[in-house]
Amino acid sequence: MADIPGTRSQELMRLRERYVARGVDQQHPVFVASTSGAVITDVDGNRYLDFGGGIGALNAGANHPEVVQAIREQAGRMLHACFHVLPYEPYVRLARRLCEITPGRGDKKAMLINSGAEAVENAVKIARYATGRPAVISFENAFHGRTLLTLTLTSRAKSEGFGPLAPEVYRSPFPYLYRSSLGSEAETVAACLDAFRRLVGDVGADRVAATIMEPVQGEGGFIVPPAAFVQGIAACCRERGILFIADEIQTGFYRTGRRFGIEHFDVVPDLVAVAKSVADGLPLSAVVGRSDVMDAVPPGGLGTTFGGNPLACAAALAVIDILEREDCGARARAIGARVLERFRAWQAAYELVGDVRGLGAMVAMELVTDRRTKEPAPEAASAVVAEALRAGVVLVKAGAHKNVVRFLGPLSITDEELDAGLRVLERALATVCALEVS
Ligand SMILES: Cc1ncc(COP(=O)(O)O)c(C=O)c1O
Repeated sequence: MADIPGTRSQELMRLRERYVARGVDQQHPVFVASTSGAVITDVDGNRYLDFGGGIGALNAGANHPEVVQAIREQAGRMLHACFHVLPYEPYVRLARRLCEITPGRGDKKAMLINSGAEAVENAVKIARYATGRPAVISFENAFHGRTLLTLTLTSRAKSEGFGPLAPEVYRSPFPYLYRSSLGSEAETVAACLDAFRRLVGDVGADRVAATIMEPVQGEGGFIVPPAAFVQGIAACCRERGILFIADEIQTGFYRTGRRFGIEHFDVVPDLVAVAKSVADGLPLSAVVGRSDVMDAVPPGGLGTTFGGNPLACAAALAVIDILEREDCGARARAIGARVLERFRAWQAAYELVGDVRGLGAMVAMELVTDRRTKEPAPEAASAVVAEALRAGVVLVKAGAHKNVVRFLGPLSITDEELDAGLRVLERALATVCALEVS
């Protein structure tokens, strides 16, 4: 490998620092030139294995040839018409496809927008309109986006300094078992469910429009809730006429080994928000849900100029064909099992690895400076990720304490690529552990 970052990346970084706002998040000091499957090539010609998938947006594999072909064909016909002015076929075909594959057997409808945050915003708008109620409940440690409403729904730490935040948003505890101070799994679940019921009572059950939950918390550090918790929340919502919104933006499209993460818990949401991997990297998101709920909003109440852009719809239709054809659930489970096995072995070997957890191909290890106190180790996590990058693997961190190293690579990754990447990651971990000890 040439130097990382190489000279061209360093040049571009100077341009970035001069002209791009500091607040725009960026994890690595390397500029990408091209991508293919699970391989990334930077502007200096260095190659990396992709364990981050552009934050979980590339389940089908980067630049999948069928997706590129579908985009090319669509680009030759039409880039934009605005669905609100003149509708076009790819939008309605994709809406039908999304209604077919999302959980729930009843009549469903969909609306298309551009980003994950927009999907969450619209799901909340629809829920409020359909119920005539103002309040929304999200969970501690959740991540739902960076617009003002979605930031308010997101865990407290990220919203500091951006206030005033959106009103009528309430937060309830989520069972983060590794860090629970509430006792055993059963005790933690019972306490979290109690807290939720109390919150609903305090806000007023007839004032709560919806609860929004990630089936597995993504940015929060891959926290998998016990089924009893998800089912308990869903039952409580159902009894009180509160809509259940599943934020499947990171968990959707086979990431967890099922089409959608919520399917692991036998819960059928009223509304589902999807984005990220739906269009292999093109900006597209959707709200899909019960027709009676979706149709509560009158004509003109929903929309945006570029929502359901024709190129993105063409890409998404191709992605869904690929994922449905290729038994991606089984592939995600196999990838997850392989990664989990390695992470567990490292947990046994390295003190730094405090916890290992995940669902399907959504696997993470949480790094701590001390296993007893569970003191988060964000610097060590950054060092592991930086070391891995230098050796040719791109990773993205997660967790409220920024101490979680996660696998979120394309599901198209081969076993050889996966094993090679895991070897690099283990060496990075060993190097950082050796430095910590010395
Ligand atoms: C669960 C979840 N919801 C919402 C979002 C926001 O999506 P976007 O960044 O496309 O706005 C994300 C992004 O990481 C996410 O993981």
